[in-house]
Amino acid sequence: MKIIYLITCAALVSGAEKFKVVRQWTHLNYTWRSQAEYKDALKTGRYVPQNNAPVGIKIYGNTLYVSVPKYRKGVPVTLTTVENNHFNPLLSPFPSWELNDDSDCANLQSVQSMEIDTMGIMWVLDGARINNYNRCPTKLVLLDLNNGGKVIRVNVFPNETSHQVGGFLNDLVVDETSGGFAYITDASPVDPGLIVYSKEKDEAWKLRDSSMFSNEAQLVIKGSVLDSSYTINGIALSPPCDDRMVYYCTIGSYTLYSIPTSALKNRHLANTEEWRKSITLVGRKLGQSQGLTIDSDGNLFYTMSTFYGVGKWNTSTPLWTSELFDRDEQQMVWTDGFAFDQRGYIYLITNYVYKFIQPKESLFNDGRVLFRVFKYHSRTKSYLYSK
Ligand SMILES: *[C@@H]1O[C@H](CO)[C@@H](O)[C@H](O)[C@H]1NC(C)=O
Ligand SMILES: *[C@@H]1O[C@H](CO)[C@@H](O)[C@H](O)[C@H]1NC(C)=O
Ligand SMILES: *[C@@H]1O[C@H](CO)[C@@H](O)[C@H](O)[C@H]1NC(C)=O
Repeated sequence: MKIIYLITCAALVSGAEKFKVVRQWTHLNYTWRSQAEYKDALKTGRYVPQNNAPVGIKIYGNTLYVSVPKYRKGVPVTLTTVENNHFNPLLSPFPSWELNDDSDCANLQSVQSMEIDTMGIMWVLDGARINNYNRCPTKLVLLDLNNGGKVIRVNVFPNETSHQVGGFLNDLVVDETSGGFAYITDASPVDPGLIVYSKEKDEAWKLRDSSMFSNEAQLVIKGSVLDSSYTINGIALSPPCDDRMVYYCTIGSYTLYSIPTSALKNRHLANTEEWRKSITLVGRKLGQSQGLTIDSDGNLFYTMSTFYGVGKWNTSTPLWTSELFDRDEQQMVWTDGFAFDQRGYIYLITNYVYKFIQPKESLFNDGRVLFRVFKYHSRTKSYLYSK
Protein backbone atom coordinates (compact mmCIF):
# COMPACT_ATOMS: atom_id res chain seq x y z
CA MET A 1 0.00 0.00 0.00
CA LYS A 2 2.80 2.37 0.94
CA ILE A 3 4.48 1.97 -2.43
CA ILE A 4 1.26 2.67 -4.30
CA TYR A 5 0.78 5.81 -2.23
CA LEU A 6 4.26 7.11 -3.00
CA ILE A 7 3.84 6.51 -6.73
CA THR A 8 0.53 8.37 -6.68
CA CYS A 9 2.25 11.34 -5.05
CA ALA A 10 5.05 11.26 -7.60
CA ALA A 11 2.43 11.52 -10.35
CA LEU A 12 0.82 14.48 -8.66
CA VAL A 13 4.16 16.20 -8.19
CA SER A 14 5.14 15.73 -11.83
CA GLY A 15 1.99 17.72 -12.61
CA ALA A 16 0.48 18.30 -15.99
CA GLU A 17 -1.64 15.74 -17.76
CA LYS A 18 0.25 14.35 -20.74
CA PHE A 19 -2.01 12.08 -22.77
CA LYS A 20 -5.14 13.83 -24.11
CA VAL A 21 -8.32 12.04 -25.22
CA VAL A 22 -8.89 12.14 -28.99
CA ARG A 23 -11.62 9.47 -29.38
CA GLN A 24 -14.03 7.91 -26.92
CA TRP A 25 -16.84 5.42 -27.04
CA THR A 26 -19.68 4.19 -24.85
CA HIS A 27 -20.07 1.27 -27.29
CA LEU A 28 -18.82 0.32 -30.74
CA ASN A 29 -21.03 0.54 -33.80
CA TYR A 30 -20.40 0.13 -37.48
CA THR A 31 -21.19 1.72 -40.84
CA TRP A 32 -23.77 -0.89 -41.82
CA ARG A 33 -24.55 -1.32 -45.50
CA SER A 34 -28.24 -0.72 -44.80
CA GLN A 35 -30.70 -0.26 -41.93
CA ALA A 36 -32.07 -3.69 -42.82
CA GLU A 37 -28.66 -5.29 -42.30
CA TYR A 38 -28.22 -3.48 -38.98
CA LYS A 39 -31.65 -4.54 -37.70
CA ASP A 40 -31.08 -8.10 -38.82
CA ALA A 41 -27.64 -8.23 -37.14
CA LEU A 42 -29.20 -7.05 -33.87
CA LYS A 43 -32.03 -9.55 -34.14
CA THR A 44 -29.87 -12.56 -34.95
CA GLY A 45 -27.14 -11.70 -32.43
CA ARG A 46 -24.53 -11.22 -35.11
CA TYR A 47 -24.12 -7.80 -33.47
CA VAL A 48 -24.36 -7.52 -29.69
CA PRO A 49 -23.31 -3.89 -29.08
CA GLN A 50 -22.03 -4.29 -25.50
CA ASN A 51 -19.77 -7.24 -26.44
CA ASN A 52 -17.56 -5.24 -28.83
CA ALA A 53 -14.30 -3.77 -27.51
CA PRO A 54 -11.53 -2.03 -29.47
CA VAL A 55 -8.06 -3.44 -28.79
CA GLY A 56 -5.27 -3.01 -31.35
CA ILE A 57 -4.64 0.52 -32.67
CA LYS A 58 -2.31 1.65 -35.44
CA ILE A 59 -2.12 4.75 -37.64
CA TYR A 60 -1.17 5.24 -41.25
CA GLY A 61 -1.49 8.65 -42.89
CA ASN A 62 -4.60 10.17 -41.34
CA THR A 63 -6.35 6.86 -40.74
CA LEU A 64 -6.80 5.19 -37.37
CA TYR A 65 -7.07 1.39 -37.65
CA VAL A 66 -8.66 -0.54 -34.80
CA SER A 67 -9.05 -4.27 -34.22
CA VAL A 68 -12.03 -5.81 -32.44
CA PRO A 69 -11.16 -9.34 -31.26
CA LYS A 70 -13.97 -11.84 -30.75
CA TYR A 71 -13.75 -12.52 -27.01
CA ARG A 72 -17.54 -12.77 -26.89
CA LYS A 73 -20.44 -13.39 -29.25
CA GLY A 74 -21.84 -10.65 -31.44
CA VAL A 75 -18.73 -9.02 -32.91
CA PRO A 76 -19.58 -8.61 -36.62
CA VAL A 77 -16.17 -7.41 -37.91
CA THR A 78 -12.64 -7.63 -36.53
CA LEU A 79 -10.46 -5.14 -38.45
CA THR A 80 -11.70 -1.59 -38.97
CA THR A 81 -11.00 2.04 -39.73
CA VAL A 82 -12.45 4.74 -37.48
CA GLU A 83 -14.35 7.89 -38.38
CA ASN A 84 -12.84 11.22 -37.35
CA ASN A 85 -15.42 12.44 -34.87
CA HIS A 86 -14.45 12.49 -31.21
CA PHE A 87 -17.48 10.82 -29.59
CA ASN A 88 -18.72 7.36 -30.60
CA PRO A 89 -17.12 7.41 -34.06
CA LEU A 90 -18.42 4.57 -36.24
CA LEU A 91 -16.10 1.79 -37.38
CA SER A 92 -15.92 0.52 -40.96
CA PRO A 93 -14.72 -2.96 -41.83
CA PHE A 94 -11.25 -2.94 -43.36
CA PRO A 95 -10.37 -3.69 -46.08
CA SER A 96 -13.96 -4.86 -46.76
CA TRP A 97 -17.03 -6.60 -45.35
CA GLU A 98 -16.03 -9.61 -47.45
CA LEU A 99 -12.60 -10.05 -45.83
CA ASN A 100 -14.32 -9.71 -42.43
CA ASP A 101 -16.82 -12.48 -43.18
CA ASP A 102 -15.79 -15.12 -40.65
CA SER A 103 -17.83 -17.94 -42.19
CA ASP A 104 -14.73 -18.76 -44.25
CA CYS A 105 -11.46 -19.50 -42.41
CA ALA A 106 -9.60 -17.83 -45.29
CA ASN A 107 -11.01 -14.46 -44.13
CA LEU A 108 -10.15 -12.48 -41.01
CA GLN A 109 -11.56 -14.15 -37.90
CA SER A 110 -10.46 -12.51 -34.67
CA VAL A 111 -7.68 -9.93 -34.83
CA GLN A 112 -5.93 -8.81 -31.67
CA SER A 113 -3.27 -6.50 -33.05
CA MET A 114 -1.38 -5.33 -36.09
CA GLU A 115 1.69 -3.35 -37.10
CA ILE A 116 2.29 -1.11 -40.11
CA ASP A 117 5.80 -1.09 -41.57
CA THR A 118 7.55 1.85 -43.25
CA MET A 119 6.39 0.67 -46.69
CA GLY A 120 2.72 0.81 -45.70
CA ILE A 121 2.28 -2.94 -45.29
CA MET A 122 -0.02 -3.85 -42.42
CA TRP A 123 0.94 -7.08 -40.63
CA VAL A 124 -2.29 -8.41 -39.14
CA LEU A 125 -2.32 -11.00 -36.34
CA ASP A 126 -5.47 -13.05 -36.78
CA GLY A 127 -5.05 -15.35 -33.84
CA ALA A 128 -7.29 -14.67 -30.83
CA ARG A 129 -8.67 -18.22 -30.42
CA ILE A 130 -9.70 -18.07 -26.79
CA ASN A 131 -13.14 -18.52 -25.22
CA ASN A 132 -14.03 -20.94 -28.05
CA TYR A 133 -15.81 -18.47 -30.33
CA ASN A 134 -13.54 -19.24 -33.20
CA ARG A 135 -11.77 -22.41 -34.25
CA CYS A 136 -10.03 -21.45 -37.50
CA PRO A 137 -6.25 -21.86 -37.68
CA THR A 138 -4.32 -18.77 -36.57
CA LYS A 139 -2.59 -16.71 -39.23
CA LEU A 140 -0.52 -13.68 -40.12
CA VAL A 141 -1.98 -11.64 -43.00
CA LEU A 142 -0.13 -8.87 -44.84
CA LEU A 143 -2.23 -6.08 -46.37
CA ASP A 144 -0.93 -3.36 -48.69
CA LEU A 145 -2.36 -0.07 -47.38
CA ASN A 146 -1.19 1.78 -50.50
CA ASN A 147 -3.32 -0.55 -52.56
CA GLY A 148 -6.69 -0.52 -50.78
CA GLY A 149 -5.62 -3.14 -48.25
CA LYS A 150 -4.97 -5.80 -50.89
CA VAL A 151 -3.92 -9.14 -49.35
CA ILE A 152 -0.31 -9.78 -50.30
CA ARG A 153 0.58 -12.66 -47.97
CA VAL A 154 -1.23 -15.16 -45.76
CA ASN A 155 0.81 -17.36 -43.46
CA VAL A 156 -1.33 -19.97 -41.71
CA PHE A 157 0.28 -21.32 -38.55
CA PRO A 158 0.12 -25.06 -37.87
CA ASN A 159 -1.02 -26.24 -34.42
CA GLU A 160 2.62 -26.92 -33.51
CA THR A 161 3.37 -23.20 -33.81
CA SER A 162 0.09 -21.67 -32.64
CA HIS A 163 -2.90 -23.73 -31.65
CA GLN A 164 -6.22 -23.16 -33.40
CA VAL A 165 -8.02 -24.02 -30.16
CA GLY A 166 -6.61 -21.85 -27.37
CA GLY A 167 -3.94 -20.03 -29.39
CA PHE A 168 -3.75 -16.34 -28.61
CA LEU A 169 -1.52 -14.34 -30.96
CA ASN A 170 -1.36 -11.20 -28.91
CA ASP A 171 1.11 -8.64 -30.14
CA LEU A 172 3.91 -8.23 -32.65
CA VAL A 173 6.82 -6.06 -33.71
CA VAL A 174 8.22 -5.88 -37.23
CA ASP A 175 11.94 -5.89 -38.04
CA GLU A 176 12.52 -4.72 -41.63
CA THR A 177 16.12 -5.99 -41.84
CA SER A 178 17.23 -9.32 -43.42
CA GLY A 179 14.17 -9.55 -45.70
CA GLY A 180 11.68 -8.75 -42.93
CA PHE A 181 10.80 -10.48 -39.68
CA ALA A 182 7.89 -10.40 -37.28
CA TYR A 183 8.34 -11.32 -33.63
CA ILE A 184 5.00 -12.39 -32.21
CA THR A 185 3.84 -13.16 -28.69
CA ASP A 186 1.52 -16.15 -28.32
CA ALA A 187 -0.23 -15.53 -24.99
CA SER A 188 -1.92 -18.90 -25.31
CA PRO A 189 -2.78 -20.68 -22.08
CA VAL A 190 -2.00 -24.01 -23.80
CA ASP A 191 1.32 -23.23 -25.50
CA PRO A 192 2.75 -19.78 -24.76
CA GLY A 193 5.86 -18.64 -26.60
CA LEU A 194 7.58 -16.23 -28.93
CA ILE A 195 7.02 -16.87 -32.64
CA VAL A 196 9.56 -15.72 -35.20
CA TYR A 197 8.32 -15.26 -38.77
CA SER A 198 10.68 -14.67 -41.68
CA LYS A 199 8.96 -12.88 -44.54
CA GLU A 200 11.72 -13.73 -46.98
CA LYS A 201 11.66 -17.46 -46.19
CA ASP A 202 7.92 -17.45 -45.44
CA GLU A 203 8.45 -19.70 -42.46
CA ALA A 204 7.89 -19.47 -38.73
CA TRP A 205 9.28 -21.11 -35.62
CA LYS A 206 8.49 -20.87 -31.94
CA LEU A 207 10.67 -20.30 -28.92
CA ARG A 208 9.46 -21.43 -25.51
CA ASP A 209 11.03 -20.51 -22.21
CA SER A 210 10.04 -20.31 -18.55
CA SER A 211 10.45 -16.52 -18.72
CA MET A 212 7.36 -16.56 -20.98
CA PHE A 213 4.93 -17.62 -18.26
CA SER A 214 4.82 -16.58 -14.66
CA ASN A 215 2.50 -16.14 -11.74
CA GLU A 216 4.60 -13.69 -9.81
CA ALA A 217 1.64 -11.47 -8.97
CA GLN A 218 -2.11 -11.41 -9.52
CA LEU A 219 -3.63 -8.67 -11.63
CA VAL A 220 -6.36 -6.88 -9.71
CA ILE A 221 -8.24 -4.07 -11.45
CA LYS A 222 -11.07 -2.22 -9.73
CA GLY A 223 -11.68 -5.26 -7.55
CA SER A 224 -11.66 -7.80 -10.41
CA VAL A 225 -8.97 -10.45 -10.45
CA LEU A 226 -7.78 -11.41 -13.92
CA ASP A 227 -8.46 -15.11 -13.89
CA SER A 228 -6.32 -16.24 -16.79
CA SER A 229 -2.90 -17.68 -17.44
CA TYR A 230 -0.17 -15.13 -17.00
CA THR A 231 1.76 -15.69 -20.20
CA ILE A 232 3.99 -13.70 -22.57
CA ASN A 233 2.08 -10.69 -23.83
CA GLY A 234 3.83 -7.33 -24.33
CA ILE A 235 6.64 -7.01 -26.87
CA ALA A 236 8.81 -4.12 -28.06
CA LEU A 237 11.74 -3.75 -30.44
CA SER A 238 14.54 -1.19 -30.18
CA PRO A 239 15.11 1.17 -33.15
CA PRO A 240 17.46 0.06 -35.97
CA CYS A 241 21.04 -0.32 -34.69
CA ASP A 242 23.79 -2.95 -34.65
CA ASP A 243 22.51 -4.98 -31.73
CA ARG A 244 18.76 -4.68 -31.86
CA MET A 245 16.83 -5.94 -28.86
CA VAL A 246 13.40 -7.44 -28.38
CA TYR A 247 11.88 -6.79 -24.95
CA TYR A 248 9.01 -8.86 -23.59
CA CYS A 249 6.98 -9.39 -20.45
CA THR A 250 4.20 -11.65 -19.29
CA ILE A 251 0.84 -10.16 -18.39
CA GLY A 252 0.69 -9.41 -14.71
CA SER A 253 4.46 -9.37 -14.36
CA TYR A 254 6.77 -6.62 -13.15
CA THR A 255 9.74 -8.34 -14.77
CA LEU A 256 11.09 -7.31 -18.16
CA TYR A 257 13.23 -9.59 -20.31
CA SER A 258 15.26 -8.93 -23.45
CA ILE A 259 16.79 -11.00 -26.23
CA PRO A 260 18.88 -9.78 -29.19
CA THR A 261 17.25 -10.13 -32.61
CA SER A 262 20.42 -11.90 -33.83
CA ALA A 263 19.45 -14.84 -31.57
CA LEU A 264 15.82 -14.81 -32.71
CA LYS A 265 16.63 -14.74 -36.44
CA ASN A 266 18.85 -17.79 -36.25
CA ARG A 267 16.59 -20.79 -36.79
CA HIS A 268 19.39 -23.29 -36.20
CA LEU A 269 20.06 -21.74 -32.80
CA ALA A 270 16.34 -22.05 -32.02
CA ASN A 271 16.60 -25.83 -32.46
CA THR A 272 19.21 -26.08 -29.73
CA GLU A 273 19.02 -24.89 -26.15
CA GLU A 274 21.73 -22.32 -26.90
CA TRP A 275 19.40 -19.43 -27.72
CA ARG A 276 18.24 -19.28 -24.10
CA LYS A 277 21.66 -18.03 -23.06
CA SER A 278 20.82 -14.80 -24.90
CA ILE A 279 17.84 -14.01 -22.66
CA THR A 280 18.53 -11.22 -20.17
CA LEU A 281 16.44 -10.39 -17.14
CA VAL A 282 16.44 -6.60 -17.53
CA GLY A 283 14.83 -5.77 -14.22
CA ARG A 284 11.63 -4.65 -12.62
CA LYS A 285 9.12 -2.19 -14.04
CA LEU A 286 7.05 0.10 -11.81
CA GLY A 287 3.91 -1.85 -12.61
CA GLN A 288 2.37 -4.91 -14.24
CA SER A 289 1.91 -4.47 -17.98
CA GLN A 290 0.58 -6.02 -21.15
CA GLY A 291 1.48 -3.35 -23.73
CA LEU A 292 5.04 -2.25 -24.53
CA THR A 293 6.44 -0.02 -27.24
CA ILE A 294 9.66 1.84 -28.04
CA ASP A 295 9.96 5.16 -29.86
CA SER A 296 12.65 6.28 -32.33
CA ASP A 297 14.62 7.86 -29.42
CA GLY A 298 14.82 4.56 -27.55
CA ASN A 299 12.22 5.32 -24.88
CA LEU A 300 10.23 2.27 -23.84
CA PHE A 301 6.62 3.02 -22.82
CA TYR A 302 4.79 0.37 -20.82
CA THR A 303 1.21 0.13 -19.70
CA MET A 304 0.61 -0.10 -15.96
CA SER A 305 -2.74 -1.83 -15.69
CA THR A 306 -3.11 -1.75 -11.93
CA PHE A 307 -1.94 1.86 -11.64
CA TYR A 308 -4.24 3.05 -14.44
CA GLY A 309 -1.30 4.60 -16.22
CA VAL A 310 1.82 4.39 -18.33
CA GLY A 311 5.49 4.08 -17.41
CA LYS A 312 8.42 5.36 -19.44
CA TRP A 313 11.99 4.14 -19.50
CA ASN A 314 15.03 5.43 -21.42
CA THR A 315 16.51 2.10 -22.57
CA SER A 316 20.06 3.53 -22.42
CA THR A 317 19.74 3.76 -18.64
CA PRO A 318 19.03 1.14 -15.93
CA LEU A 319 15.38 0.05 -15.75
CA TRP A 320 15.07 1.23 -12.12
CA THR A 321 15.28 4.83 -13.39
CA SER A 322 11.97 4.43 -15.24
CA GLU A 323 9.20 6.82 -14.26
CA LEU A 324 5.46 6.91 -13.94
CA PHE A 325 4.68 8.94 -17.03
CA ASP A 326 0.93 9.49 -16.76
CA ARG A 327 -1.99 8.04 -14.87
CA ASP A 328 -5.72 8.63 -14.44
CA GLU A 329 -7.74 6.25 -12.34
CA GLN A 330 -11.03 7.37 -13.94
CA GLN A 331 -10.10 7.55 -17.60
CA MET A 332 -7.27 5.05 -18.01
CA VAL A 333 -8.88 1.77 -17.03
CA TRP A 334 -6.87 -1.03 -18.63
CA THR A 335 -4.16 0.81 -20.51
CA ASP A 336 -3.75 -1.69 -23.31
CA GLY A 337 -1.53 -0.70 -26.22
CA PHE A 338 0.23 1.99 -28.23
CA ALA A 339 0.63 3.42 -31.74
CA PHE A 340 2.63 6.19 -33.38
CA ASP A 341 1.80 8.50 -36.26
CA GLN A 342 4.24 10.25 -38.58
CA ARG A 343 3.75 13.65 -36.97
CA GLY A 344 5.44 13.07 -33.63
CA TYR A 345 2.55 11.69 -31.57
CA ILE A 346 2.24 8.51 -29.53
CA TYR A 347 -1.24 7.07 -28.97
CA LEU A 348 -2.65 4.94 -26.17
CA ILE A 349 -5.85 2.90 -25.99
CA THR A 350 -7.69 2.09 -22.75
CA ASN A 351 -10.58 -0.34 -22.90
CA TYR A 352 -11.66 -2.39 -19.82
CA VAL A 353 -10.56 -5.52 -21.68
CA TYR A 354 -10.04 -7.47 -18.44
CA LYS A 355 -13.86 -7.58 -18.30
CA PHE A 356 -14.51 -8.47 -21.94
CA ILE A 357 -11.96 -11.27 -22.01
CA GLN A 358 -13.44 -13.08 -19.00
CA PRO A 359 -16.79 -14.61 -19.91
CA LYS A 360 -17.96 -14.59 -16.28
CA GLU A 361 -17.47 -10.84 -15.80
CA SER A 362 -20.60 -8.76 -16.25
CA LEU A 363 -20.22 -5.79 -18.58
CA PHE A 364 -21.29 -2.22 -17.93
CA ASN A 365 -24.42 -1.20 -19.74
CA ASP A 366 -25.03 2.23 -18.22
CA GLY A 367 -23.84 4.47 -21.02
CA ARG A 368 -20.47 5.23 -19.42
CA VAL A 369 -17.44 5.80 -21.64
CA LEU A 370 -15.56 2.51 -21.76
CA PHE A 371 -13.00 3.04 -24.50
CA ARG A 372 -10.62 5.93 -25.08
CA VAL A 373 -7.81 6.71 -27.48
CA PHE A 374 -5.32 9.28 -26.16
CA LYS A 375 -2.42 11.03 -27.81
CA TYR A 376 0.71 12.74 -26.54
CA HIS A 377 3.21 14.88 -28.44
CA SER A 378 6.38 12.82 -27.87
CA ARG A 379 8.06 14.43 -30.92
CA THR A 380 9.25 10.95 -31.90
CA LYS A 381 8.31 8.21 -34.35
CA SER A 382 8.02 4.48 -33.77
CA TYR A 383 10.88 2.00 -33.30
CA LEU A 384 10.72 1.28 -37.05
CA TYR A 385 12.65 4.52 -37.57
CA SER A 386 16.04 5.52 -36.26
CA LYS A 387 16.45 8.90 -34.61
C1 LIG B 1 -25.59 2.05 -35.16
O1 LIG B 1 -25.37 2.81 -36.33
C2 LIG B 1 -26.49 2.86 -37.19
C3 LIG B 1 -26.04 3.59 -38.45
O2 LIG B 1 -25.03 2.83 -39.10
C4 LIG B 1 -27.65 3.53 -36.46
O3 LIG B 1 -28.77 3.54 -37.28
C5 LIG B 1 -27.94 2.78 -35.16
O4 LIG B 1 -28.92 3.46 -34.41
C6 LIG B 1 -26.70 2.63 -34.32
N1 LIG B 1 -26.97 1.76 -33.18
C7 LIG B 1 -26.32 1.83 -32.03
C8 LIG B 1 -26.64 0.80 -31.00
O5 LIG B 1 -25.48 2.71 -31.78
C1 LIG C 1 -5.32 -28.66 -34.81
O1 LIG C 1 -5.88 -29.11 -33.59
C2 LIG C 1 -7.32 -29.17 -33.62
C3 LIG C 1 -7.81 -29.48 -32.22
O2 LIG C 1 -7.00 -30.43 -31.58
C4 LIG C 1 -7.76 -30.16 -34.65
O3 LIG C 1 -9.18 -30.20 -34.70
C5 LIG C 1 -7.23 -29.74 -36.02
O4 LIG C 1 -7.55 -30.67 -37.00
C6 LIG C 1 -5.73 -29.56 -35.97
N1 LIG C 1 -5.28 -28.97 -37.21
C7 LIG C 1 -4.45 -29.57 -38.04
C8 LIG C 1 -4.12 -28.83 -39.29
O5 LIG C 1 -3.96 -30.66 -37.79
C1 LIG D 1 18.78 8.43 -22.61
O1 LIG D 1 19.89 8.28 -21.75
C2 LIG D 1 21.13 8.49 -22.41
C3 LIG D 1 22.25 8.09 -21.43
O2 LIG D 1 22.09 8.78 -20.20
C4 LIG D 1 21.22 9.94 -22.86
O3 LIG D 1 22.44 10.17 -23.54
C5 LIG D 1 20.04 10.21 -23.81
O4 LIG D 1 20.01 11.57 -24.18
C6 LIG D 1 18.73 9.86 -23.14
N1 LIG D 1 17.68 9.93 -24.16
C7 LIG D 1 16.61 10.68 -24.04
C8 LIG D 1 15.65 10.66 -25.17
O5 LIG D 1 16.41 11.39 -23.04
